[in-house]
Amino acid sequence: MADAPKISHAVPSVNGRAYPITDHYYDVIVVGAGGAGLRATFGMAAEGLSTACLTKVFPTRSHTVAAQGGISAALGNMGPDDWRWHFYDTIKGADWLGDQDAIEYMCKNAPEAIIELEHYGVPFSRTKEGKIYQRPFGGMTTDYGNGPAAQRTCAAADRTGHAILHTLYTQALRHKAKFFVEYFALDLLMTDDGECRGVLAWNLDDGSLHRFWGQQTILATGGYGRAYFSATSAHTCTGDGGGMALRAGLPLQDMEFVQFHPTGVYGAGCLITEGARGEGGYLVNSKGERFMERYAPSAKDLASRDVVSRSMTMEIREGRGVGPEGDHIFLHLDHLAPEVLHARLPGISETAKVFAGVDVTKAPIPVIPTVHYNMGGIPTNVFCEVVTHKNGNPEAVVPGLMAIGEAGCVSVHGANRLGSNSLLDLVVFGRAAAHRARDIVKPGLKVAKAPESSTQKALARFDGIRYANGANPTSGIRKNMQKIMQTNAAVFRTQETLTEGVKKMAQVYDSFNDVKVSDRGLIFNSDLLETLELDNLRGQSLVTVVSAENRKESRGAHSREDFTERDDTNWMKHTLCWLDDKGKNKIDYRPVHTKTLTSDVEYVAPKKRVY
Ligand code: FUM
Repeated sequence: MADAPKISHAVPSVNGRAYPITDHYYDVIVVGAGGAGLRATFGMAAEGLSTACLTKVFPTRSHTVAAQGGISAALGNMGPDDWRWHFYDTIKGADWLGDQDAIEYMCKNAPEAIIELEHYGVPFSRTKEGKIYQRPFGGMTTDYGNGPAAQRTCAAADRTGHAILHTLYTQALRHKAKFFVEYFALDLLMTDDGECRGVLAWNLDDGSLHRFWGQQTILATGGYGRAYFSATSAHTCTGDGGGMALRAGLPLQDMEFVQFHPTGVYGAGCLITEGARGEGGYLVNSKGERFMERYAPSAKDLASRDVVSRSMTMEIREGRGVGPEGDHIFLHLDHLAPEVLHARLPGISETAKVFAGVDVTKAPIPVIPTVHYNMGGIPTNVFCEVVTHKNGNPEAVVPGLMAIGEAGCVSVHGANRLGSNSLLDLVVFGRAAAHRARDIVKPGLKVAKAPESSTQKALARFDGIRYANGANPTSGIRKNMQKIMQTNAAVFRTQETLTEGVKKMAQVYDSFNDVKVSDRGLIFNSDLLETLELDNLRGQSLVTVVSAENRKESRGAHSREDFTERDDTNWMKHTLCWLDDKGKNKIDYRPVHTKTLTSDVEYVAPKKRVY
């Protein structure tokens, strides 16, 4: 059982303003209630740990709800499959930047994780025999890339994330996890020697402040897609965990790798699932050509996402885009049987109608590569513990801190994630975090608080932003950031665009020091909330473009026109990037794990990546 919350006796004050704080003690604190956060929350609660889950939106509104096409696992329900083939495909998809021990863990545990989900109640679509339905997805093959496409992606129509998220939430309630809904985590509470003891949070509903103390704090705050102008990510995807990690003096890993999903609705950015191509949809240019045949003769429209996004961009650049401005591509589903569209793709049929005015049974959907996923994040080991450089060890565990899901970088996706490996990452590593907590957390042991200076530092930032009265409105800074990221850290990159991007993004970063917040209140102050979110985004944007400028090769989603080849001799290593509170960055590296966890699989050596 958790202790009853108590108002702290010492009321901290900043600039003469008192900030009463309520202290809560739990064994574990999960920040974020998407797929990873909920899987960890209920797993930890089920292990008998007192578990608090803080979330800035109601759990079932977390962005996982928008995941469409499915979750990968070599169940073999629709044809031959083997988790070792999945392991191979993921390494290849990651362009040899993924950690092979973590990839082994994920792919091996995938079937069990899916069966668990089924037993928890996820309403998967079914085959005629009643098995979980599985569809083909990009880069998923059989026989180590030598066989035909694998049907490996388990689907609940095209609303798989919705189905999983709702099921996980009910499981968390069943196991009596305690939710703090509409609590926005402000900063990690760290000791002077770098241990995490908890988190300071702001209750958006009544304006009160809270400290959550626990033996482990688990960051499951999702990605930072909203750093870009056009993204499939919800507006809530502001990388709040990554922002907190940077301010705690921790590095972020592989941030240069930003995934563009090939099929965002042109102009609106909403996702049209890769499952659409998995069900037989195909892309065409203005000449009506199925151009993917030229770029990926074998996998065609089901090549991995970086390959398809680049091919679409090339077609547009070379004058073969569709539409009055020749700036997008068509996705055809109109040849598919209406029953298939109705049963397998009802959600995107509706999306196409609402956001593109298209009846998919009659006309193609206008699509364009759109920012979708961050391969980079807070570096962790395979146990989901956050790691950093310390005393020459690039993998020193940060005591008390874990990161999972898109916020983390356990590096199963390396330089490019395969579609449907994200939902899998969420549940497998959410579960792994719960197992780790079970092994290292002592139920009921009250953790010592971090020094008051950590609270004071966090409050000073909060108060400084709350009373900011500069010349730059939040929306203006955010727009500048998003435009720069969209232009200068795009599908294709050059030294020129990246150097300019670093310079411009540094200016935008600094312009935040003169931000203007108009509403000084504490209750549902969306002006203040958006400004705090922007503070999280600006650091990650700068780190992204700095890391991209630094990496002088092309690998996965990082495609440089001036360094067109992958360079394994010099660059098969993870980037780590720190940012100090003045916006000054530091870069170092961490080796890619080439060792597997067990002898069930062998190290897959790098080779040319063709589809
Ligand atoms: O296309 C999709 O349904 C997205 C899936 C994913 O990002 O894993």
